[in-house]
Amino acid sequence: MRVLGIETSCDETGIALYSGGDGLLAHRLYSQITMHQAFGGVVPELASRDHVQKLVPLIRATLKDANLTLAAVDGIAYTAGPGLIGALLVGAMTGRTLAWALGRPAIGVHHMEAHLLAPMLDADPPAFPFLALLVSGGHTLLIQVEGLGAYRLLGESLDDAAGEAFDKTAKLLGLGYPGGPAVERLAASGRSDRFTFPRPMTDRPGLDFSFSGLKTYCANTVRSAPADTATKADIARAFSDAVVDTFVIKCRRAIRATGSQTLVVAGGVSSNQMLRAGLDAMGHALNVRVCYPSLNFCTDNGAMIAYAGYLRLAAGQREPLGFKVRARWPLVDAVLETDSCAPAACGTGMLLSA
Ligand code: KG4
Ligand code: ZN
Repeated sequence: MRVLGIETSCDETGIALYSGGDGLLAHRLYSQITMHQAFGGVVPELASRDHVQKLVPLIRATLKDANLTLAAVDGIAYTAGPGLIGALLVGAMTGRTLAWALGRPAIGVHHMEAHLLAPMLDADPPAFPFLALLVSGGHTLLIQVEGLGAYRLLGESLDDAAGEAFDKTAKLLGLGYPGGPAVERLAASGRSDRFTFPRPMTDRPGLDFSFSGLKTYCANTVRSAPADTATKADIARAFSDAVVDTFVIKCRRAIRATGSQTLVVAGGVSSNQMLRAGLDAMGHALNVRVCYPSLNFCTDNGAMIAYAGYLRLAAGQREPLGFKVRARWPLVDAVLETDSCAPAACGTGMLLSA
């Protein structure tokens, strides 16, 4: 079974072709970053319009890379949420329409489910069940993953997501957008012993997070410290240390509470090398395997959507002809529905096996 994946939840147009037998056949990514940079963040309407322009050429190019035509596609997966509603609509409508024209099934994928499954694209994938720390621009979640569509929320951010905190810190330090990679680069040359930032919510029980206070602490430090590059690097380092320590403390707590043997860390922030080093050391000490997506699949991409859609289609999930996108969508609601509609009502014919 070959599934075409379409990701348009934010500022990246991602297309991929995943085969159940042969793995990832091709993937393409177009990032809108340079277009949004002038505004210091993503402008939703510009994002939607750019997806409209890029989608079809990218689908064509991805199929060409794989040396295949649309006739070889057995199913289509598109991101149905959470994300920017206009941007989601572009991908969903394109995917749904293509699937209808081809007589193939289409499936709406939960963006955060796709992130958490991304490490499974690797040669030595983690196996269910596992604990997952999802750290992206919009979400910070600790999830107990029992299987596909079987998710239990253990903890989440009560305010800013981790990636959002990186982006806001970058802004305070006068770095560009997106902030995460810029803060990581600057922090690498900073000193750990000059400023000490709080480790939010680690002094009380529970697995929830809060990052907005850290941003305020950072703003106050920036205001009261000199504005030279070395000081900025020290602030970036203090911020990164605080985020890494907080995640290490909470993940250790979650591992002890659940007895998990495997921790999956995914989403844009999981590409941060300081975070990886901190969590690897923790995993080593607790004898727990810590898995990440490969670096090109940490941030948004089409491969993770194609893969998540493949797993759901292969498990027998089918959806009716209409489609629905959601700006907000709790991951625990993304259950596997294998008899959600009768084949006739699906209107897309049978799924063809490769
Ligand atoms: O998963 P993602 O691509 O999009 C969402 O689903 O939100 O995550 C994007 C977020 C941004 O906030 C970006 O600043 C952050 O991930 N990010 C990083 C790094 N690379 C991306 N944060 C810290 N360190 C990085 N190296
Ligand atoms: Zn994402």
